[in-house]
Amino acid sequence: MADPQLIDDVRAGLGGQPKSLAPRWLYDDAGTALFDEITRLPEYYPTEAERALLAGSAADVAEVSGARAIVELGSGTADKTMTLLAAFDAAGLLTSYMPLDVSTEALDRAAERALERFPRLAVAPHLADFSGYLPAAVDPQPRLVAFLGSTIGNFLPAERRAFLEHVSASLRPGDSLLLGTDLVKPVDRLVRAYDDPGGVTERFILNVLTMLNRELGADFQVDDFAYVPLWDARNRRMDLRLRARRSHQVRIPGAALAVAFFEGEEIRVEVSTKFHLDEVGAELKAVGLEPVRVYSDDDFALTLALRTP
Ligand code: SAH
Ligand code: TRP
Repeated sequence: MADPQLIDDVRAGLGGQPKSLAPRWLYDDAGTALFDEITRLPEYYPTEAERALLAGSAADVAEVSGARAIVELGSGTADKTMTLLAAFDAAGLLTSYMPLDVSTEALDRAAERALERFPRLAVAPHLADFSGYLPAAVDPQPRLVAFLGSTIGNFLPAERRAFLEHVSASLRPGDSLLLGTDLVKPVDRLVRAYDDPGGVTERFILNVLTMLNRELGADFQVDDFAYVPLWDARNRRMDLRLRARRSHQVRIPGAALAVAFFEGEEIRVEVSTKFHLDEVGAELKAVGLEPVRVYSDDDFALTLALRTP
C-alpha cells in the first residue's frame, strides 16, 4: 500500500495547475544515493563550503549554545555533522543526538556513523517529516536544532515562515538553532551547481518519475520529460522543473488520477532559494530566534540563533 501522504501530495500537486511535486519525494533509496553523489560533485559547492564553516565554528557553537542534545532535521547521512558532534564531544557536553529524516536509507547511515565515532552517545534516529516535528521528547536541555545543507531554501516563502515559527514554538528559552543557508552569488556558478555536465542532478530529479511508477503504478515515460534548471532572478532562487517534450497523458492508478500534459508543460519539483545575510537574520528574529553568531564566507552562511524568552 502506497504512503497516503504521497497519494495526497500527488493528487494536489499533479491534479492542479500549475503542476508541482513536493521535494521530500525526491529522497527514496535511489534518490538518496544520487543526492550523495551530488554532494561530491565539484560543481556543487555548498557541501564543501558548509563543511569548512562547520570545521571552523563547531567549538564556538558548542560553547555558545552549551547544548547537551542535538536534533538534526533532514540529517541525510550526517556526513558533515560529525565535525559538529566531535566539537561537542570534546567539550564534554553532548549526551544525545537525534537525526531526523524521511529517508530510511539516509537515517541508517547517519545513526551508524554517529555510533561508530561516538560510542557513548545516545543516538536516536527518527523517521519523520520535519514539518510535523515536535522535539518535546528530546532531552536533556538545552537543545540545539541543526538544519544544514540549505534545506531551508527548498521551502517557498510562506512555508519557510511557517516552518521557522513551528521550530521556534517547539524550542524553549535557551535552546538554539544552527541554520545553514546558501548565499546569492553569480548566476553561472549557481546554475552549474544544479546542472552538472555528468547529468547526476538531472538523474536525481527525473528519479521522482520512476518512484511514481513504482509506488503508484504510474506510466511515466522518463524520456518524455526534460530537466530544466532555471534561475528565478526576482525571487532569487533556482527553480527546478521537468518539462513535457510532447503532449501526452499519464495514468497514475495508485492516486486514481489521469494527468494530461501539453507540450512544454512543466512540473515544479523543487526550488532552492539563495539568501542575503541580513535576510536570514531578519527572518529568524521575526519568529523569536535571536542570531548570536554568523559564520560565513562568500558562498555560504551558518547562523546560530538562540530562542528568546
Ligand atoms: N543535511 C544533509 C542532507 C541535505 S538533503 C546535508 O546537508 O547534506 C535534504 C535531506 O532532507 C534529505 O536527506 C531528505 O531525505 C530530507 N528531507 C527532505 N524533505 C524532508 C521532510 N519533509 N522531512 C524530513 N526530511 C526531509
Ligand atoms: N538543499 C539542497 C539545495 O537546495 C538540495 C539539493 C541539492 C537539490 N542539489 C539539488 C535539490 C539538486 C534539487 C536538485 O541545494
